[in-house]
Amino acid sequence: MPQDTFKAWVADQKDGQIQVELRELAREALPEGEVLVEVAYSTLNYKDGLAMTGQGKIIRKFPLVPGIDFSGTVVESASPDYQPGDKVVLTGWGVGESHWGGFAQLARVKAGWLVPLPGELSLKQAMGIGTAGFTAMLCIMALEAKGLAPTDQREVVVTGAAGGVGSIAVALLANLGYNVVASTGRAELHDYLRWLGAKQILDRSALAKPGRPLESERWAGAVDTVGGDTLAALLPGMAQETSIAACGNAGGFSLNTTVFPFILRGVSILGINSVLTPRPRRLEAWARLARDLPLEALGAMIQESPLAALPELSQQILKGQIKGRVVIDVNA
Ligand SMILES: NC(=O)c1ccc[n+]([C@@H]2O[C@H](COP(=O)([O-])OP(=O)(O)OC[C@H]3O[C@@H](n4cnc5c(N)ncnc54)[C@H](OP(=O)(O)O)[C@@H]3O)[C@@H](O)[C@H]2O)c1
Repeated sequence: MPQDTFKAWVADQKDGQIQVELRELAREALPEGEVLVEVAYSTLNYKDGLAMTGQGKIIRKFPLVPGIDFSGTVVESASPDYQPGDKVVLTGWGVGESHWGGFAQLARVKAGWLVPLPGELSLKQAMGIGTAGFTAMLCIMALEAKGLAPTDQREVVVTGAAGGVGSIAVALLANLGYNVVASTGRAELHDYLRWLGAKQILDRSALAKPGRPLESERWAGAVDTVGGDTLAALLPGMAQETSIAACGNAGGFSLNTTVFPFILRGVSILGINSVLTPRPRRLEAWARLARDLPLEALGAMIQESPLAALPELSQQILKGQIKGRVVIDVNA
């Protein structure tokens, strides 16, 4: 039997202001759902940083427990798909936005939102991956579906490379045999990115502004977590018939560009939305992660922290100061 009370971060609105505090809640406070999960780990994504600091209109209803991901063990299930004792993972589906999320010791959710813990991954490793790693995998799957393959040894660039999505994208692409260029603004993390498998490092400033409408054809593919002018700066350098998987806006959400990369080079921007990814692609992405992500690289990008550290870590992720992935031990 799980505990009768549990710790959770709760976001509430008071006098038009969003306040987030760590509370002890009764189990009955949990929302409706088919499966009750004893959460082991959650994680901090950029979106969680926004939610924990009351920014970006991430939280759609109050009171709400933030945290868009969790891993844990089923303790009660009204679904034939899950039994007590099953190890499960959840990312997305509006959890931590419109449904109570993972910054808590207990969560109750719909069975269809869960996936079984994939492969040989531990609950902690699954959250080392979390939405960030899941998104990195979706980006690579989208590029591959458009024809990218490791036999093409031209460069594949990852922007925001030292962040969560970026670090996992670099490690995955390198392990798959791609010629990876990591774009970062942090000189002190060049060695880390090389260790993850980047063959070259590009300072973020080189992609800070779009240059001419078309430049020499450099990139065979791109995973862009930064958006804004960085995405605009990638487009002119894309080779014929290549694609950018666009998943982020850490650097901006407007896109000022020309049509030339599209109409003269057949370049595509592939939009990635990890929240509502249909279940078959979700299962495929997790199976690929369990197979293609070297666990040594994953271990090197994880920083483990307790629930109480979330406010400070949230400020750090919004300032682009987090290296790799933060895993939250909700019972620490
Ligand atoms: N579409 C989806 O489903 C989906 C899923 C997950 C995440 N995302 C988005 O993907 C982005 C990355 O998420 P994350 O969790 O990996 O965050 P993160 O760990 O904070 O990584 C973001 C990285 O972007 C770079 N960056 C930050 N501010 C920048 C700026 N002003 N200009 C240029 N680069 C900047 C930094 O990399 P360097 O230090 O290496 O320069 C930073 O580490 C976020 O926008 C997030 O909302 C989208």
